[in-house]
Amino acid sequence: MQDKTNIVLIGFMGTGKSATGRLVARRLEREFVDMDAQVEARTGRKISEIFRIEGEEAFRRYERELVQELSARRNLVIAAGGGVVLNPENTRDFSHSGLVICLKAATSAILQRVKCEDHRPLLENGDKAKRIMDLLDVRRGLYDAIPCQVDTTYMSPESTADRVIELYNEFVESPQ
Ligand code: S3P
Repeated sequence: MQDKTNIVLIGFMGTGKSATGRLVARRLEREFVDMDAQVEARTGRKISEIFRIEGEEAFRRYERELVQELSARRNLVIAAGGGVVLNPENTRDFSHSGLVICLKAATSAILQRVKCEDHRPLLENGDKAKRIMDLLDVRRGLYDAIPCQVDTTYMSPESTADRVIELYNEFVESPQ
């Protein structure tokens, strides 16, 4: 029996993880878990408040605990936070419990999608384009190491969801 039943969307901020994940879950009639929303619900704080009051390290601990918990469950569609790749144990645990798909997008598309938003603490200070490029410089290798990739630069969440479901069906037929 296939044990790896979760679908986990990983990727930089603004690549479409939450919007796509919600659609995939609806189409497959599965439970959707948005990790940032879960952390906020559990702590009673917005992500930006956690960063400001408790610091990024505390946030990464909440994130890590949640990855461990979700990886022990089945049939979920999970939208991870963009920084989940910073701890290789997160990616490893997710890979043991399902198909991990990395969504990526051109820096210009990411900027376009996040420019009017103000809930991402790592993009709060200074020039957003520079922050995105700096963070991507550090993380690119971590995202690129995920075998399954979908480039969402020119894709709507609907067509990204189609592609994710297609990849999951292939994975179910011949698991990695
Ligand atoms: C982060 C991405 C955010 C959120 C937090 C940190 C990151 O999630 O977890 O602000 O380190 O890239 P999204 O990718 O859903 O915006």
